[in-house]
Amino acid sequence: MNILVTGGAGFIGSHTCLALLEQGYEVVVVDSFINSNKKSLDGVIEILKFNKTIKNIPLEIIKADIRNEKLLDKLFLGYKKSGKPINAVIHFAGLKSVKESILNPLNYWDVNVNGSITLLRVMDRYKCKRIVFSSSATIYGYSNKKSFNENSEIKPINPYGTTKVAIEQFLNDVYLSNPKEWGIANLRYFNPIGAHPSGLIGEAPLGVPSNIFPYLTQVAAGKINKLNIFGNDWPTKDGTAIRDYIHVMDLAEGHISALQKLNENKIMTVNLGTGFGTSVLELVNTFERVNNIKIPIEFTSRRQGDCCRVVADNTLAISSLGWSPKRYLEEMCLDGWKWQSLNPKGY
Ligand code: UFG
Repeated sequence: MNILVTGGAGFIGSHTCLALLEQGYEVVVVDSFINSNKKSLDGVIEILKFNKTIKNIPLEIIKADIRNEKLLDKLFLGYKKSGKPINAVIHFAGLKSVKESILNPLNYWDVNVNGSITLLRVMDRYKCKRIVFSSSATIYGYSNKKSFNENSEIKPINPYGTTKVAIEQFLNDVYLSNPKEWGIANLRYFNPIGAHPSGLIGEAPLGVPSNIFPYLTQVAAGKINKLNIFGNDWPTKDGTAIRDYIHVMDLAEGHISALQKLNENKIMTVNLGTGFGTSVLELVNTFERVNNIKIPIEFTSRRQGDCCRVVADNTLAISSLGWSPKRYLEEMCLDGWKWQSLNPKGY
C-alpha cells in the first residue's frame, strides 16, 4: 500500500510515517515545511536503519503546499503511471495555533479548509477514496464534563477549531455522495506529548512553545526560567486544569488502525485519547520524578479560552479500531525529555 501523508514532517506526522514504514507501508510525504523540518524524516530513516527492519526504505519526500492542485495532480498521476497508485491519504497538513487562528482566520480557512478541498478533489479524480483526517478534541469547546464522547456537543471557540469542524462536515458530505466507495476516518486527538523513545524525533515548535509539554521540557533544559501554571483555582483536586495526555507513538499507531478499518468503506469519527485525566501539577510532578529534574513553577491567572477538564471517552476507539493506548505518563515524560535533552535546539 502506497500512503500519501500530508504534513508528514510535523510532530505527529513524522511519528506516523515511522509507524507506517515499520509496518511495511510505502510512504509519500507532502509537506510545505513552513512549520516543520525535513530533518524529522532523516530521523525516521535513522531509526529504521538502526533497527535494521527495512533495507530500502520506501519513503519519498516532496516539498509542496496542498493548495497547489497542479502539483498534487502531477504527483497522483506520476504514481498512477508508475503502477504504484496512491491508495490512501493520512491528512495532517494544516495550521494549528489557536492564537494565530484568532489573529488570522483568513489564512486558517484558506490553508486548512481550501487545502483539504483541493486534496479531496485530486483524490477523487484519481479514485483514491481512503482518508484519515487529523481532527481535534478542541472542537468540543467549553465544558467541564467528566469525559467527551464522539456525540458530545460540538462547539469550537476559535477559528482553528471551526476549520476542523468544517473539514469534518465537508468529509461527511463527500462520504454521503458515494458511501459505497469512500472510507473516511476523522480522528479527534486529545493532548499528544512525548516523543519516540530513541530521542531522534520529537516535537520542535518554532519560537516559544504555547503548549505545556514543549514549554515544560524547555524549562527543564534551562532555556526558559520557569513554567507558568495557568490557574490554581480550577475545581479540581489540586486546583490545576486536567487534560488527557497521550503518547505520540500511541497516537501514531491509532492512525494505522484507522487506516486498516477503512477497507470496509465507511465513515467513522473517533476520539484518540487515553481516557485518563492528568492535572498540570500531576504532569509536572511526574516529569520531575522520572527525570530527576526540578521544574521551577509559578501560578498565574487562567489563560483565556481554557477550560477545566478535557478527557476522552475512548470506548469507541477501543471497540472499533482494535487499538488501545499502551504508554503511561511516565514514558511520555521520559521520552519527551530524552528528545529535548539530545536535541536542545530541535532539528
Ligand atoms: N498550561 C499551563 N502553562 C503553559 C501552557 C499550558 O499551565 O505554559 C496548561 C493549560 O492551561 C492547560 C494545559 O496546560 O490546562 C494544557 O495546555 P496546552 O496548551 O498544552 O493544550 P490545550 O489543552 O489547551 O490544547 C491542546 C492543543 C489544541 C488541541 C487541544 C485538544 O493546543 O490544538 O489540546 O484538547 F486541540
